[in-house]
Amino acid sequence: MSDTTGNPLDDPSADPFEVAAAAAEDIARLTGVERHDIALTLGSGWGKAAELIGETTVTFPATEVTGFSKPALEGHVGTLRSVLTPKGRRVLIIGARTHYYEGHGARRVVHSVRTAAATGARTMVLTNGAGGIKHTWKPGQPVLISDHINLTGDSPLEGATFIDLTDLYSMRLRDLARTIDPSLDEGVYCQFRGPQYETPAEVRMAKAIGGHIVGMSTALEAIAARQAGMEILGFSLITNMAAGIQTTPLSHQEVIEAGREAEPVISSLLARVIGAL
Ligand code: HPA
Repeated sequence: MSDTTGNPLDDPSADPFEVAAAAAEDIARLTGVERHDIALTLGSGWGKAAELIGETTVTFPATEVTGFSKPALEGHVGTLRSVLTPKGRRVLIIGARTHYYEGHGARRVVHSVRTAAATGARTMVLTNGAGGIKHTWKPGQPVLISDHINLTGDSPLEGATFIDLTDLYSMRLRDLARTIDPSLDEGVYCQFRGPQYETPAEVRMAKAIGGHIVGMSTALEAIAARQAGMEILGFSLITNMAAGIQTTPLSHQEVIEAGREAEPVISSLLARVIGAL
């Protein structure tokens, strides 16, 4: 099933949904939980939410699960955990994102989402750290994703798989999030390939085509989540103003620090929203 990389997803003849089903079996075995209800992918700055959502029953390295890759980056935690909420719902928390810029292809990028769906999760909450385009936004501010523009030129869908993406980021769930924090603004997320940050000209393009947020994740994952029939909620933490909107150079360190500072507030918001799902 696997080629020389040891990851079964790198074998072109492998069925990615079978690999996800095998991964879901690993998770059931490692957690002792047959079905999860909600899945949550934690991006930069959102990590503390894991402790606030409920009682963590099991934590394990993502690499113990079929098809998961090692984390590429400091600041990205490579673990999965199973959390039981006060309402008795099971949340699968994915702290192990594979980014498109790592160059392993869309199959590996969306494997965690397909696995979450195979564990039974019907709701997918995707979070990230991203650059802000709207002038009214400030670093450290969480915003809802209302829609996306996929600028990667790629798709997790294979073959003639025509999937409707209307209301991809569920209006119902955005409204629910605003019952927790009515001040939440929203915007259109543009996924660039990365890993370089955008040029100011690319940010002006993103703005001209209707974008408000620039980042390097989430859009491909949302497409796969929709394909799997999940309802999607997306949050971006604005870690910095996008290139050219802020006049100082961007740095990964700045992104990590903004995430760290905003973490207590946004994690508590996220935990309350998950509690209301
Ligand atoms: N651009 C792309 N990705 C990002 C940014 C950005 O400005 N900030 C954090 N992730």
